[in-house]
Amino acid sequence: MSVERQKGTISRRQFLQLGAVGGVVAATGSLLAGCAAPNIGGGASGPLKIGVLLPYSDIYAALGESITEGMRMYFESVDNRAGGRPIELITEDEGTAPDAAAQKARKLVEQDQVDLVAGIVSSGVAAALRDYFHDNQKFLIIANAGANALTRAAKSPYIFRASFTNWQPNWPMGSWAAANLGRRAFISVPDYGAGKDTISAFTHSFTAAGGEIVKVQLTPFPNIGDPAPFLAEIQAAAPDFVYSFYSGAAAVTFVKAYSDFGLTGSIPLAGSGFMVEQDVLPSHGSSALGIKSALHWALTLDNAENQAFVAAFAQRELPSGNKGANVFAVQGYDTARLIVEALNAVEGDMSRTDDLIGAFGSAAFPSPRGAFKMDSTTHNVINPIYIREVQEVNGTIANVVLTSVGEVPDPGDNSKDAV
Ligand code: PHB
Repeated sequence: MSVERQKGTISRRQFLQLGAVGGVVAATGSLLAGCAAPNIGGGASGPLKIGVLLPYSDIYAALGESITEGMRMYFESVDNRAGGRPIELITEDEGTAPDAAAQKARKLVEQDQVDLVAGIVSSGVAAALRDYFHDNQKFLIIANAGANALTRAAKSPYIFRASFTNWQPNWPMGSWAAANLGRRAFISVPDYGAGKDTISAFTHSFTAAGGEIVKVQLTPFPNIGDPAPFLAEIQAAAPDFVYSFYSGAAAVTFVKAYSDFGLTGSIPLAGSGFMVEQDVLPSHGSSALGIKSALHWALTLDNAENQAFVAAFAQRELPSGNKGANVFAVQGYDTARLIVEALNAVEGDMSRTDDLIGAFGSAAFPSPRGAFKMDSTTHNVINPIYIREVQEVNGTIANVVLTSVGEVPDPGDNSKDAV
C-alpha cells in the first residue's frame, strides 16, 4: 500500500485506503468517513503535538503508565518545549489488540493532527502500525515494542526505536546461560511476536554454546488463563532451568504460579529482564530472589544519570499509586529526550524531513541506562546489556548487576537468530 502526500494533505479517497494497516482492515475503515481531508503535514509554528499511544488497560497498563510518566518528567525538565515550540501531549490507550490500536493511531494522526506519535508497547501493535506510518511518512518513535523486524526487513526511514529489539537482551543471555545456568533449557513465552523473537535469539546463542532446548512452550497471549498445565509440563520435562519472557500482569501471574506450583528453588527461572523488572518485583516478593535476567538497565546501576533519575522519579505520583523507577520509565524519559533533541536540531520545523531523519539517527546522550546511542543504520538504539540477579538490597528487592556485556547493537538482519 502506498499513499502519496500532496502538499501535506491526503485526499479522502487516499485516506479511506489507509484502512489496510498491516492487514488490519475491517475495524478501521470508517473512523473519519465524512470528515474533511486531514492535514497530516507539519510546520514550525504553534504547539508541537505529540500523540502518545500506550497501554492504559490490559496486561501492559503499568508499562504504559511508567513510560508516560518518564516522558512527562523529561519534558518538564526542558519546560515542555522542543525546537522553540510548546509541547502538547495527546494520549490514547493502546491496549493489546492491534486492530483497536491502529484505530487510535489513525485518530491521533488524522483527527488530532499530531506532528508525530510516540509510544507502543506491544510488538503485535508495532508490526500492525508499521505500514501506516511508513506510507504516510509520519514519524513514529517507539518507546518499548521490541519487534525485531522493524529494525530489519521492515525498517522505515520514519520509524526510530528508543527502547530495544527483543533480540538485544536475549542473544547475549544465551551464551551466558550455557556457561552459568546449565545445558538443558525449557523455553516458556507468550504466543505472539515478542515471544517468538525471544525464542529465536536465545536459541541461536545458547545452542552455539553447546546448550540444548528441551522444549518450547507457547502460552496464550495476552492472558495465559490457567497456568497449571504449563507448569506441569515444565515439571515433567525437568530441565536445568526455564528461560522466559513475560511482562506486566502476565509476569505477575507466571512468577506467582511458578512459586505456587513448587518450582521456585527446584528449577531456576531466567529470562529477559522484563519478567522481574521493578514494576512487578513488589508483587513477586521473595519468590523472585535469585532470578537471573538480561536487560539494558537496572535500578542499582551506578552512574550519575541513573542516580539522579531514580531519585527524581521516586517523587512522582502515578495514577495507579505505583512508585519508583523501572526500565519503562527510563525508556519514556529517553524517548522524550530523543524527540526534544531532534526537534531542537531542526528548530521545530517538522517539514525538514531529511534533517529530522539525520537528527534522530545520530542522537547520542547520557542516559540512566549508561549511554543512549542511536544506530543510524538500523534506527534502533545500541544498548548496554547487563546480566542481573534479583537480590535483597537494604531491605528491598532489586536487580543487582552481575556482569556487563557491553554495547549490543541489533545485527540488522536475522543472521544471529535460530530459524
Ligand atoms: C513487546 O511486545 O515487544 C514487549 C512487551 C512488553 C515488554 C517487552 C517487549 O516488557
